[in-house]
Amino acid sequence: MLLSYHRSTMSFPATSPSVHLNVRTSVGEYAIEIAPDASLRLAATLDAAGLPARRFIVSSQTVWRFHGERLQNVTTEEPILIPDGERYKHLATVGRIYDAMIRAGADRLSAIVALGGGVTGDVAGFAAATYLRGIPVVQVPTTLLAQVDSSVGGKVGVNHAMGKNLIGAFHPPAAVVIDPELLATLPRREFRSGLYEVVKYGVIASRALFERTGRDLKALFARNASALLPVVAESCRIKASIVEQDERESGIRRTLNFGHTAGHALEAVTRYRRFRHGEAVAYGMLAASALAVSRGVFPEPDRRELAALIVQMGPLPPVGDLSAAEVAEATRRDKKVLAGRLHFVLPTAIGATTTATDVTADELRSALQAIGLKP
Ligand SMILES: NC(=O)c1ccc[n+]([C@@H]2O[C@H](COP(=O)([O-])OP(=O)(O)OC[C@H]3O[C@@H](n4cnc5c(N)ncnc54)[C@H](O)[C@@H]3O)[C@@H](O)[C@H]2O)c1
Ligand SMILES: [Zn+2]
Repeated sequence: MLLSYHRSTMSFPATSPSVHLNVRTSVGEYAIEIAPDASLRLAATLDAAGLPARRFIVSSQTVWRFHGERLQNVTTEEPILIPDGERYKHLATVGRIYDAMIRAGADRLSAIVALGGGVTGDVAGFAAATYLRGIPVVQVPTTLLAQVDSSVGGKVGVNHAMGKNLIGAFHPPAAVVIDPELLATLPRREFRSGLYEVVKYGVIASRALFERTGRDLKALFARNASALLPVVAESCRIKASIVEQDERESGIRRTLNFGHTAGHALEAVTRYRRFRHGEAVAYGMLAASALAVSRGVFPEPDRRELAALIVQMGPLPPVGDLSAAEVAEATRRDKKVLAGRLHFVLPTAIGATTTATDVTADELRSALQAIGLKP
């Protein structure tokens, strides 16, 4: 991965106003641009990336109302506004994008610009992956989660009534344009939910990122661009470097699932209603850490440090009424169970992980009890 921090050094950028990353994929390469005014310069960036001239913005009502104005000069095509929220992340919404594009006569020399959170990015990306067997998509993420996670890596798709993200494709973006200023309008709980994924990157790959997140928490919550930029950039760099090594998730990409095994199970047993995704991941990280401590692979002081940061970030929905046995059982239905084996990501330090394939239901149940679930 090529990496350059403009007007700054190659080390962890302190106040660098703009960061460029290049991500290699099996089908080419794309750039991630992270800068406070990146959305205002989008038209020029798309020209420079060689994006086809006919550009269709796919966004949601909410996001378009807040930020549509910034993208006025990107295209003369009507924006395609899709309903927002996880429950609209299904094929019918993809169908609405196809309808609008066919009606507008979109051809192979067309591209989609996805402006929104992870739901919009996944849905619009899937439409781009399949329309005329694939047209380019540029991701312009507007939630913290989308800026540090879903917009990078090329996974796109939708849910099926039988499960999350069951239908999808790999369709790496033509470019990712990240403007931290778009986060100013994000509700605090959504912002915090994304920030747990930043903590995840810290634990799996970078103590420096972990510590900076704790230190700058106030400025981050205030959406201070100079605090956000290095944290978003470092998260993207970690994700990009991992997906570059393992695009299709056969090895190291699994480390991104730290906190997600128990997290997904918590989301599933509460029918996706109680937790924002990041909140469930926060509990998942705590459970995985407790398990790692009890196995003797993770130092107790590191676990306490992680728990303290999560507490400092704010309240999480309660879990005392949930059964540890039931949640442990739900992890076995995880999509990522391979040949009956659960690949469980365990921290070994803040900044490093290992994968265990022999975690038992009993061990997991004890860990879930340790973080407050009932037996
Ligand atoms: N493709 C991947 O690799 C990948 C990785 C992680 C998560 N995901 C997916 O991402 C989705 C979750 O994404 P999300 O957390 O961004 O949720 P989301 O897209 O549902 O957005 C959350 C809410 O924030 C609102 N919103 C978005 N941007 C805003 C802004 N700037 N100001 C005000 N409000 C704004 C939206 O209208 C929505 O109500 C899930 O479906 C998940 O499966 C995909
Ligand atoms: Zn996640």
